[in-house]
Amino acid sequence: MHHANIPSIGAASAWRKDARRFLSAGVPPDQILWGDYASSPDLFTTQTKLAPRGQVSVPQSFVTLAQTVVWHSDPERFARLYAFLWRLKDDPHLMSDRGDTDLSRLRQMERNVRRCQHKMKAFVRFREIGTSHTGRRSFAAWFEPTHNTVEPTADFFVRRFSDMDWRILTPDVSAIFENGTLSFQEGHLKPDLPEDAGEQLWITYFRNIFNPARLKVKAMQSEMPKKYWENMPEAAAIPDMIAGAPARARSMAEAAPTLPPARMSQVQAQLSNCNSAWDGPREALPAAISACTRCPLHRTATQAVAGEGPSNAALMIVGEQPGDDEDLCGHPFVGPAGKVFDAIASEVGLNRSDAYVTNAVKHFKFTARGRRRIHQRPVSSEIDHCRGWLDAEIDQINPKLILAMGASATESLTGSGKDILSRRGGVETSRSGLPVLITLHPSYLLRVSDPKARLRSHALFREDLSKAVGFLT
Ligand code: URA
Repeated sequence: MHHANIPSIGAASAWRKDARRFLSAGVPPDQILWGDYASSPDLFTTQTKLAPRGQVSVPQSFVTLAQTVVWHSDPERFARLYAFLWRLKDDPHLMSDRGDTDLSRLRQMERNVRRCQHKMKAFVRFREIGTSHTGRRSFAAWFEPTHNTVEPTADFFVRRFSDMDWRILTPDVSAIFENGTLSFQEGHLKPDLPEDAGEQLWITYFRNIFNPARLKVKAMQSEMPKKYWENMPEAAAIPDMIAGAPARARSMAEAAPTLPPARMSQVQAQLSNCNSAWDGPREALPAAISACTRCPLHRTATQAVAGEGPSNAALMIVGEQPGDDEDLCGHPFVGPAGKVFDAIASEVGLNRSDAYVTNAVKHFKFTARGRRRIHQRPVSSEIDHCRGWLDAEIDQINPKLILAMGASATESLTGSGKDILSRRGGVETSRSGLPVLITLHPSYLLRVSDPKARLRSHALFREDLSKAVGFLT
């Protein structure tokens, strides 16, 4: 039997060295006992000399895996790694075998260690303990990691806190950084660290970033497990904040928004007429839409594009927003999307001039790229601001059926922004109680480049339009 002595400090390089030695001498896993035998010198000294039988080559992916797994707290980690390495020498493809249970276990251990490193980076809290003999400010932190993560994570703290002296004390291994030099020592008992002036700051910061309306206790505890709370000053505030969260969230919802006084009246005036429906005379509606300043889109668009069509139309067609062509000439659906719509509509006997055609948003939204204006999808608030105009148009036309083309029109008409692909071809009810047939936007058909997919999307669109025709006859 061979004994591999792996000390608690420098375990990674000790394991690597011994694993290479055993592997090149052909020593099978069941002939090795792995452990920290520094305290049992008699065992340590019975080590036999091994004669290497040849070169060993190990895949880089295993080296990377082992570099992390060695820090796991499982006492069997060194043996597990070596047993896998032993198998790997005869089967170099083992590293990519997703069904291999040994590999999955090692991968799981790797994730555990990485998670623990992440927690250490997030939850170590230093307290100032004075000035050290080097003349630099000196800090200490007590931390109890689940795995042996002090050594592999220490470099992170060196990079972060290079201009001070610090020590991270743990029950197993401690990291000491003094005068720019990092070293490791055996573990410590928990020291009595002084309270720090910075602690009140942490608590205040934590209270301020805490949003009671978004409290999810389970998610919070999984991200910041309770075992770390004891060493984190801000954690003292957590039970209080959880207990008070429902009441605070209620009062936040009830409170009016606070606005800077200088802009308050301006913003309130804008909000008050924001999405209210138009109740002026019918003939004044297009001019009112043209003069709209309810949202910032009016600043960059050439003009607002109101709906068009017979006032007794049985069908109302609603698109998203004017495109580049529509913005320039002031009429809806005159560009490429309108052309593809007309072509397919004529195949099912639908004449666009019999319908009232409009958009959910009346101004063109785009970003400028050189001289090109690239279409941008309107966001929900822009759709909301424009809904008053669409409601007024619906009110005036009172169609039998509304055809919603695309996600924005569907959201504006039904109030639901849920996935449109699963809703297409269906008839839903508008906010005002009218039937809404949902289909994709014709510009989508222009974007499908695969010929087969294009044929299919045209066929589906045609099917939806003939449903509209059937609904009206
Ligand atoms: N796309 C639309 O949604 N509406 C138009 O008017 C033009 C293109």
